[in-house]
Amino acid sequence: MFITLMLFLCTSPVPHLVALEEVTSGKVTTSGDDFPPLKNDNVLRAARGEPVDRVPVWVMRQAGRYLPEFQAVRAKHDFFEVCRTPELACEVTMQPLRRFDLDASIIFSDILVIPQALGITVEMKPGVGPVLPEPLVGPADLERLNQTGTMDRLKYVGDAITMMRHMLEGRIPLYGFTGAPWTLMGYMIEGGGSKTMSKAKGWLADHPEASHKLLNILTDQVIEYLLLQVRAGAQILQVFESSAEHLSKEQYLTVALPYLKRIRDDLHRRFAEEGITPVPLTLFSKGAMHSLPEQAATGYDVIGLDWTIDPEEARRLVGPNVTLQGNLDPQDMYKPKEELRELVLTMVRKFGKHRYIANLGHGITPQTPIESMEVLVQAVHDAL
Ligand code: CP3
Repeated sequence: MFITLMLFLCTSPVPHLVALEEVTSGKVTTSGDDFPPLKNDNVLRAARGEPVDRVPVWVMRQAGRYLPEFQAVRAKHDFFEVCRTPELACEVTMQPLRRFDLDASIIFSDILVIPQALGITVEMKPGVGPVLPEPLVGPADLERLNQTGTMDRLKYVGDAITMMRHMLEGRIPLYGFTGAPWTLMGYMIEGGGSKTMSKAKGWLADHPEASHKLLNILTDQVIEYLLLQVRAGAQILQVFESSAEHLSKEQYLTVALPYLKRIRDDLHRRFAEEGITPVPLTLFSKGAMHSLPEQAATGYDVIGLDWTIDPEEARRLVGPNVTLQGNLDPQDMYKPKEELRELVLTMVRKFGKHRYIANLGHGITPQTPIESMEVLVQAVHDAL
């Protein structure tokens, strides 16, 4: 397997990257916090509201199926095998960084590793997406959740993060991430992705107490999981509330946001208690652009935007003290190069250079032409 792995490590056009061999051979330590100093810290500066050298850009799902080298790894390895094997997870995390001048990396994993750690089977079916063959059917199923030892079962994510920090050699920061409680609840009840979230929304209506019990269980796990990632070396975090789009505004404010706020508040308390330097937190609630002032009031450093809101309107709604991230329509990546470049330039100029991290408004889609990533990254860096 090691030889296969090395074959994927095509010669890097980017200098100063530690070879995987050095990490796996023990020349580079995979534990401890003796990480190389950070060179390009524009993402962290933008998140903290400090001046940047250039507008930073990264892309949700930047390691993914639009890259042939990712497909090559997936042809040989199951999705969760990649997640669970630090060498493979790091290789895949590194793939977009070899091609594009990105300002951040995000550890390769999935939001569904938390339900897995709680004892729920999750399979990744090619062409289908995640499948949970034994979803939660009723409140009694909460008993099935094994809440002890979850972080031991997620240790592999920490190992991948630590290894990745060394492989990055301080080039750019590393994001850790998690699914948010409502989004995880949705997958656990639906048994996979859903166009309507009808069963999960049925729980909210029919089993309000059990729903909030589940949301609290997930919130506790998310907090521990984010702490695990920060201890391992994650320099900034993103919470994906991707299924917010299924909730009404009122539901978002009662079912999603209170738990998102608890994550932020408890995390900060734990940072203080454990002497951990706080890292910036990003909240991405897809489909919840109706509640941007409320999101800004939670204390997250960065609010992620989907593409349904105009940048200037979003800024008006959140005020000056929060960083915005986003929000190009992933579909725009299919436009001709010149048109795409103009759209990116306009977007970045609307957001401005202060407190802004460029990204898409959701994950990059599998058929996206690779050249569009080059156009996107270049246009962001050229815009201001
Ligand atoms: O951004 C990155 O490069 C890091 C990796 C990452 C993945 N999933 C890898 C992945 C991240 C940040 C995620 C988060 C995730 N996973 C979310 C939140 C973000 C979002 O898109 O809303 C969600 C909802 C999931 C659950 C999930 N995983 C779905 C619905 C799917 C299938 C749909 C799809 O886009 O493929 C996945 C699979 C998945 N996760 C793939 C990748 C690269 C592709 C699967 C494969 O290789 O077979």
